[in-house]
Amino acid sequence: MSVLEFNNSNNVHYSWLQRFAGNIIRYGCTSRLQHIAIVMDGNRRFARDLKLERARGHTLGADKLFDVCQWCHDLGIKELSVYAFSLENLKRSQDEIDTLMNIARLKLNEIVKSLDKIHEQQICIRVIGNLDLLPDDIQQSSYRLMKETDHYKNFVLNVCLYYTSRNEITSIIKNLAQACEKDLIHIDDIDDDLIIESLIVSTSQTGHLPDIFLRTSGELRLSDFMLLQCRFSMWIFADVYWPAFSVWHLYWVILQFEMKSKTLTDIQKQCKNILQQGKTTDEKRNERIHTYLNWLEQQRIERLKL
Ligand code: FPP
Repeated sequence: MSVLEFNNSNNVHYSWLQRFAGNIIRYGCTSRLQHIAIVMDGNRRFARDLKLERARGHTLGADKLFDVCQWCHDLGIKELSVYAFSLENLKRSQDEIDTLMNIARLKLNEIVKSLDKIHEQQICIRVIGNLDLLPDDIQQSSYRLMKETDHYKNFVLNVCLYYTSRNEITSIIKNLAQACEKDLIHIDDIDDDLIIESLIVSTSQTGHLPDIFLRTSGELRLSDFMLLQCRFSMWIFADVYWPAFSVWHLYWVILQFEMKSKTLTDIQKQCKNILQQGKTTDEKRNERIHTYLNWLEQQRIERLKL
């Protein structure tokens, strides 16, 4: 199939049966699945069950992320958002936080090393979250990757680090308040759609919100991950630890979505219609919103230049 690979030691090989099934899914499914959001859960339990070091579980989890990027890319999925480190994870021991940061550092550096290939394939990498809290060198490689790949849309990987939805919503509220202060928008301009549009500027390059919210490890929790973005997504909970997640699990997830996607699309349309009812087309308001969204995007780009 195609060439997405973020490190050379991680080449994905398909058996003939996996390739056959993948082609059926890629070309036979009628749903247009574009974006998957994943809570990669179960690294420590996987390590514990196999009597491995906890750090090994996390490393295997990080390697799995690259496999899953490749599988998604080969299936024609355009965007993947992953929960790599929650602000809640700061409550773990310093030793474990350091281990996770070392893995993130290593993986981001591997991606930086494959920048030539990334440019060739026009892949966009975004690191999303409270980046000011990241160690300096990880901040630098994150900004470098974002700066160099920001305009690509062939495949988008959003890595959420030091992230929670609550924190993201707080930033949006601060931005809206600032925009009111600067008189870019009026307080009455703020509505549900504007909040979602603000979110899209910061978290999705394709503008397509996740079709699927997937959590591995059997836990039935959302853990404050992309809550607003996933309000219309199909929630799928896979009973497998993240490092053991296989291409067959991914096919199973996609087939579940395929079976229900018509109902989901209908619900999304109905909700959109309800939101549109009672809305006036006020030219001046539209202009203000346009200016505000441009200002937001400009701020994001300015941050990449630092
Ligand atoms: C959840 O398992 C997983 C995490 C907290 C970390 C996930 C991070 C990676 C896979 C690496 C990130 C990679 C990049 C590129 C930045 P857990 O520790 O909660 O395990 P448990 O549920 O069994 O306790």
